[in-house]
Formats: sequence, structure tokens, C-alpha cells
Amino acid sequence: MIDYKHPQGNVFYRRIDFAHPMITRGEGVYLFDTFGRRYLDASGGPVLVNIGHGVDEVVDAIAEQARQVAYVHASMFTTQALEDYSSALAEVTPLPDPRFFYLCSGSEATETAIKFARQIQVNRGQGERYLVIGRWRSYHGTTLGALAVSGRPALRSLYMPMMQDMPHIPPPYCYRCPFSLEYSTCGILCATVLEDQIKILGANTVAAMIAEPISGASLAAVVPPPEYWPLVREICDKYGLLLIDDEVMTGFGRSGRWFAIETWGVTPDVITMAKGAAGGYWPLSITAVKGEHVEVIRQQGGGFVHGGTFSHHAVGAAAGLATLRYIQDHDLVAASASKGEQLKAKLQAALGDHPNVGDIRGQGLMLGLELVADRLTKEPFPPKTRVARRLADAAFELGLILYPGQGTVDGVYGDHVMIAPPFIVTDEQMDEIVAILAAAVEAVLPASVASGRRN
Ligand SMILES: Cc1ncc(COP(=O)(O)O)c(C=O)c1O
Repeated sequence: MIDYKHPQGNVFYRRIDFAHPMITRGEGVYLFDTFGRRYLDASGGPVLVNIGHGVDEVVDAIAEQARQVAYVHASMFTTQALEDYSSALAEVTPLPDPRFFYLCSGSEATETAIKFARQIQVNRGQGERYLVIGRWRSYHGTTLGALAVSGRPALRSLYMPMMQDMPHIPPPYCYRCPFSLEYSTCGILCATVLEDQIKILGANTVAAMIAEPISGASLAAVVPPPEYWPLVREICDKYGLLLIDDEVMTGFGRSGRWFAIETWGVTPDVITMAKGAAGGYWPLSITAVKGEHVEVIRQQGGGFVHGGTFSHHAVGAAAGLATLRYIQDHDLVAASASKGEQLKAKLQAALGDHPNVGDIRGQGLMLGLELVADRLTKEPFPPKTRVARRLADAAFELGLILYPGQGTVDGVYGDHVMIAPPFIVTDEQMDEIVAILAAAVEAVLPASVASGRRN
């Protein structure tokens, strides 16, 4: 084990018992620590370092804006940075006449979206509508409102007594269909069940439905079948629900499109964005809504009952604009699409036949690998073996950063890792990712032992 000194001192760490290396420099896909060790950031942190570390254009834009003016109160002033960023963002956002509400985290974007949906319904004269239907094995954030619509028991159960829980439907997850059906003869029950749920709750009580277009941290890059999103849109329209598309992880090119929902040609009512918006250079989140909805609020003569001291931050807007321009100037959305295909193929070639690799999936540079005790039966590992965490730790020791997760199958059982490097990753670096990952898999799950066990 590496002998790092940091969990001492006054920091309340995210992982209390983990010895944190201290990073002093980031450059491209690499991070460097005080011992001079190099880490290949193959998950972009928790899937957000889209343009890589150490991009001067973004750093300079942040410094320049902070020098001019760092903070103005958003209920009193606007800034050129905010106006310019909003115009540029409107050009790539798949919403008609979009308007953008800015905050600092994906969780806040979720809070903004669900509160917005509630207020729109009230302003339309539908005051009984307050429920927001979410999905099991989803993640929308850490705050109580966002947790209530999220579907991760491990993160929710401690706080259940404190929250207004929300209804959930099963996710589209063909590798382990929640209804034990097979795709193409299943009738896309995972989508049509939304209609049943709305009827059970009473359509007059439901304000919105929220979902990730491609499942992120809870399921590791599960892409739904082609019919899923058009059906969900149709059902939301039929029953007067707003459709909230959570693109916090998928947005800004991660899926190989500017926004993943474009894959299916569906227009949501609200899109939440964060992570890749400023790629880690600034804590920036955005709730994008249709202009027509903002006009509903305007006509009522009030405002959106929401706020935040750091909302509409000038430096955040400058960071967002510089990031967006960098993505455009370097054609990084197309790069994510093509490199994603390449990386998936390389992963398939190296690990596709491994007895403990059940599924390799994803779109663009948002890829997931599901680990199983038995490939044929898809039986998961016992949770206490913490296979995904041990795999990520083994890779970490070898200088590779992955994003592990547990509870893939049912919230408790199941292990996966996400692989989501910056879009500037080179061919050689992709080979490096695959080689280290394969070595880590071999260290934690030796193929010979696994095949022996099965026979
Ligand atoms: C899809 C999705 N929504 C919301 C969030 C919450 O974002 P944040 O951690 O910035 O609050 C996340 C975080 O991983 C996410 O993946």
C-alpha cells in the first residue's frame, strides 16, 4: 500500500479511513501527486473532467472574470459573461427558446427542476400536482429533494424519515430486465409502466417525471432501447406531466451528442446540467427550461420561488463559456462519439471473454463494465466482497482512476465500474487504460480461478 499521510488534520474527508494522496498538478488526462506518482484519470473524477486537466483557456477566462468582477447579486444585476454564456448555450441546448437558471451543483439543478415543475403546474391552475416520478437505480443528487426522486436505497434509507418520498418505476435495463422479459418482445414495459403508475397515483397529483437519459452512477452507462424515450414523452404529454431530463452526467458531449436525449429526437421540458458544463474548473450547474414555461410564470406576475446566493455566478458563466468554446473549437463532441466506440471495442477485445465481466456497455465516452460471479447466470458477487471497490483500488494502485459502484442489480447486490476519460484521450492512452484495467481485473478476479470455480 502507498503510505500517504492524509486523513490527519482537520479535513472531514469523504472516505474517513482512506489515505488520500495529495494532488499537486493536473495535465490532460493525468494527475500528479506529491510523490511524483502519475494517475490516468480514466473516469474524469465522477464523470465530469470532459476537456481534461490544466486547460489554460478556461483558467484564463476564470481569472479574467474574477479580476473584472467576481460576484454580483443575481436578483439585482446581470453580467456580460452570463448573457454571452446563455446565448452560446442556447445554440446547443435541444429545447425551444431555452432559459437557464444557474447554480453550483447537479443536486441543486435537480432541486431547481422539481420545484420549477411544481410551480409551473400551480401556475397553470393544477395546484394538486406535486409528485415527481423517479426511477429505481437512478441518481439525481445528495440533497433531500433530489434523494427523494433518486432510486439508490444505500444513499436514501438513513434519511427516509426526513424526506417527502416520491414514487419510483423500474429502470430500462435490458441486461437484467426488471420484468424478466426480452427486448423486442417486451412491449417496452419499463416505459409503459409509467402510465400505470400515473393512473395509480391519480394523474391530477403528478407534476413531472425525472430520469437520466443514459443511466449513470447507479447502473453504469445503461442505454435504454430506442423506443423508450419517445414512449415516455408520449405518456407525459398524455397526462400533463413535465418531463425532466437529467443530463448532469451525460451532458456536454459525454454521450457522443451534446445532450444524450438527442439520440432519440425527444424534446423534454426541463434539462438539468452540471459536471461537464465547466468540466471541474468551476462548480457550475444549469437548469434549462422552455421559454414558454417561464412566460407562464411571468404572466402570473410573480417570479420563480427559488434562489441561491451563488446563483447566476459571473465566474461560473465565464468558466462555462470557455469550456463550451473549447469543446466546439476542438470538435470534442464528435471525438467523444468516435473515441467511445474505439474504447468500447478495445475493452471488448481485452475483457469481453473474462468469466467475471458480464456486460460492457455505454455510449460515447460514458462506458460501464458490470462484474458478475458467473457470466452465464449473471449471478452477482456477494455485497460484502466489495468487488467493484477492490477493483478500483487495485487500478488506483497501478495509477488508473475508475469510478466504482455497488447495488447495480437491486440496490444492494451487483458491482460495476465506469470508464469515462476526458474527450482528449489519445489512442495510446486508451491502450494504457485497457492494459491497466485488465491487470487490475486479473489481480482481483484471476480468470483461471473464476473459470475453475464455474466448472
Ligand atoms: C445524473 C446525476 N444527477 C445529479 C447528480 C448530482 O450532482 P452533484 O453531485 O453535482 O450534486 C449526479 C451526480 O453524480 C448525477 O450523476
